[in-house]
Parts: sequence; C-alpha cells; structure tokens
Amino acid sequence: MKIVGWFYFTGISLWSVKEVFMISRKILIVIIILSIFVNCGKSRSKEYISAHKINGTIGFPKDFLWGTATAAEQIESTPDSNWFEFIVDAYKNKKFLTISPGEAKPGHINSLGNYPWEVIRVKTNHDEVFKEDISLMKEMGLNSYRFSFAWDRFFPKEGMNEPDPKAIAYYKKIIEELKEKNIKPSATLFHFSSPAWFWKEKNGKRGWEREDAIQQFSIFVKAVVKNFGKDVTHWCTLNEPMVFVAAGYMQGVHPPLEMRPDVAEVTQVIVAILKAHVAAYNIIKDNDKLLGQKSEVGFTQHTRDFEPYRNYAILDRIIADRIEQAFIWDFIDAFKTGKLKVSNTSFEEEIPGLKDSLDYLGINYYGRFYIESNILNPTKFKVHMNDPGDKFERINNLAWAHYPLGFYNILTKSYQRYRLPIYILENGTADSADDDILRQEILVTHIYEMWHAMNDAKVPIKGYYHWSLIDNFEWAEGFEAKFGLIKVDYKNNFKREKRKSADIYKSIIQNGITPELFEKYAGLYK
Ligand code: BGC
Repeated sequence: MKIVGWFYFTGISLWSVKEVFMISRKILIVIIILSIFVNCGKSRSKEYISAHKINGTIGFPKDFLWGTATAAEQIESTPDSNWFEFIVDAYKNKKFLTISPGEAKPGHINSLGNYPWEVIRVKTNHDEVFKEDISLMKEMGLNSYRFSFAWDRFFPKEGMNEPDPKAIAYYKKIIEELKEKNIKPSATLFHFSSPAWFWKEKNGKRGWEREDAIQQFSIFVKAVVKNFGKDVTHWCTLNEPMVFVAAGYMQGVHPPLEMRPDVAEVTQVIVAILKAHVAAYNIIKDNDKLLGQKSEVGFTQHTRDFEPYRNYAILDRIIADRIEQAFIWDFIDAFKTGKLKVSNTSFEEEIPGLKDSLDYLGINYYGRFYIESNILNPTKFKVHMNDPGDKFERINNLAWAHYPLGFYNILTKSYQRYRLPIYILENGTADSADDDILRQEILVTHIYEMWHAMNDAKVPIKGYYHWSLIDNFEWAEGFEAKFGLIKVDYKNNFKREKRKSADIYKSIIQNGITPELFEKYAGLYK
C-alpha cells in the first residue's frame, strides 16, 4: 500500500514556520519533539484489557443474539467455486508452502498435502452432518447462526435461468433445522468465494471487473431472496471486502491471485463490490415491502487495532493512523457520504444508492497489528503481527497478537463515527489445543470488552458471533489453523469433539461473566 504525502507536508510546514518567524534552530527542534509526543498519530497503550475488576456478574440483554459464524467455502463441498479451482491446482501441483505462520505464500495453500483428497473435497463434511452441527449449537445455548449461501451451488454454470434445485433443497433443510431449534439465521451473500465461471474472461475483464458483474450477482441474490427471504431477515451482503481486495488483488494469496501493488489499481474492484452491496440491499428491501416485513441488512468489516511498533517513532504512529483509515474506514465512510474516496490516491467516485444503505455495521475483530516505518522510505513500512519484545503478549497459532482492549477501541470508534447498531459477526482465534486455553481467554476477555463498550460507552451492540463453530478450511492456511469451538477430527471420519471453550461460551450465555471467570482469564495480563 502506498502511503504518501501527509508526513512530508507536516515536515515542510514546520520548516516554513521557521522561515516565517525566524526562530532559532534549537527552539524549532523543541517544537518538533513536542509535537511528536503531543499530537502526532496514535500511541501504543501499555494496557491489554480495560479495568481489571468487575463488581458482580456481567450480564447481557435478554434479546441479545449469541451465535457462531461459518462460511460455505470453508465447511461445505463447493466443486464449482473459484476457490475450489485454486484448491485443486494447489493440490495437483503440490503448492503447499507458507512463508511463516500466518504469512501465506502466493499461489500456495499451507500443508494441503497433509490431508487426504476426501477431506479436501468435502472440507468438514457439513453437507452430510449439518443436523449434528446444529444440535451442537443448540447444546451450547446459541440463539443465532451466521452462515453463507454459496453462489456457485446456486449457479454452477454460466447462463442458467433457474438456480440448481439441489442447492435450494440443501439450504431449505438447513433453515428448517435452525427453525426447529429456534436458532435465528443470519446469512452472508458474498464470503470471498464465487462461481469459477465468473472468473473466465469476458470482453477482456473477469470477476468483479466484468461489465455484467452486478447483474450476475443480482441474479444470485434474487434467487436466494425468493427462496429464503421469508425465513431469513438478517443479512450480511459482503464479508470483509478489504481483505478480499488486499489478499486477492494485491498480495496474490487468495483468488484471483493477482498482485497489483498499488491501491490505485484496485479502486474499480472496490467500486464494484460497493455496487453489489447496493443491488443486494435493494433486492432484500423490495422483498420486505412485498411481504410486509423488516429485514436488517449490513456488511461486515475486518478490523484490527493498528498501533505503532515503536511508540517513540512519530512515523510509525502516523502511518498506523493512515493504514487504519485506508484499510478500515475508507470503505465504511463511503456509506455515510455515498462516495468512495480512496486514501492516498486522488480517487473519488459517487455510488448511486449507497448513502445510508446500512441498517447495521458488522465488525470482525482479531487483534492488533504493529506498524514499523522506514524513515528513509516512508512507503516501505512493515506490518508486524506481534512484538517479540512484549512479554505479556498473547499469540495464537497464526502468530497473531491478541489485544482485548483494541476491541473496545474499535467498537467505540465505529459507533462514534457511524452511529449505527453493531453486530460482532466474527471474533475468535486459531488454537489447536484440545484444552484450548487461549480460545477460552479470548472469549472471556473479548466478551468483557464488548460489555464494557455497551455499558460504559453506550454502543448499541446487538449480537456476538464467535468464529467459528467447527474447525474448517482456513483459506491459504489450509486445514492447519483451527478456529473451532468444536474440533473436527479429520483422521476419524470428521468426528466432532467439543473443546473446553464451548462449555465456557455456554456458561457465559447462560450466566454472564462471573468475577471468578473474569479474574481467571483477565488475570493473565497482570
Ligand atoms: C474471515 C474468515 C476467516 C477468519 C479467520 C476472517 O478474515 O472472514 O473466513 O476464516 O477471518 O481467519
């Protein structure tokens, strides 16, 4: 990502101050140093979690939605998707490498060769055992479930007039099962994956850059809404659009495996997915009018608390701010103004129908990233997933640094900026241990920070969905990173086994967070 401009302007304006007022060099240096510590960029907090004490048990509103989240491509068999095409290529050509934990190698899927073809083909076997999976949700006391409809299952071939009846029948069974168990469905329409045919070149363009992209996506959404728009009234149009763009078009680690290093070269993709949101929003709202009902429609953004690697380095602080704006807020700002403005470029485009087309904001949160700048070349900064010098830091199997306080920061900031109700549509960790202490800690400390945002900062948070229900196919990380409250035993016919965190989640849903539970896990940060 290119970060230019602002820093230089700061420097230039300070030196011109000198010329104007003829102040001495010593005084000027003092001014610069003071300005560094007083108001430049964000600083890195020494705390990991908000206050360390709670008075009594923390409870949540009665109508709060508690769920887990999944995505079709990660748990189902999706033979006609673009992701599956990539998986087959990686498998056949033995592209199994990774650079380091959490850092994927472009065009590769981590350790895919360690798994038999049957696992790769059916992922978690959810297609066959979805009833068992839904029963596990019920056992945990969940009242909602976020999943995605697979576009490629509805329209496996280009130009089909009607969706594949097999797809409709499959998702009907899932929705019926959820209904029977009193679990409210929350459905995502675009979660990274799409039909392989959508990526064949048409007039020199493919995927979201095709001229008919929005028309094709709308055909899928209309089919979903026609069949399920009465039973599903909670919709997430797009999952983590900026991750899709960065991983797929800039870093080449997700399909379409492209490497366009400059954000200016991907602006049209961002525009297209914003238009896809507007199309889906309108289709759902038209259906609501027809049926006399009110659905909630939003999208979900991947958030991280971006912080300076070195607190004393002004450039680390400034760039951390700039990246946060470009990666998180630019996209959401577009819904406020109706216009996409891409930071660090001169790009601006009005998107018809976008303004105010959000009933809620979805937040996915997985911890913090540190920015280390290079003063000699400010566009070449490093993004660290953790800080080896920090002895309290909690790190997961993908080397991500967890940071509960950052969750509070992101939630309060999101509400201050947009004043929309919020759903946490993802939060969790990769912890493969059977006694998954890190996941237990993530659950307790993050739900605590969410409560803190709801109670002290009055952020209207309406639901929390843990990522994920079961271990699954973690994109370029393959099957190695385990995010499940429930373990999937790939060596033993996909057997489901509850991890300890599933019981902790259940007890929080039923009893809230007791002071003992809080002390046990928050105490780790002391
Ligand atoms: C995605 C999920 C993914 C999870 C853990 C999110 O970026 O929406 O599909 O599995 O994070 O990496």
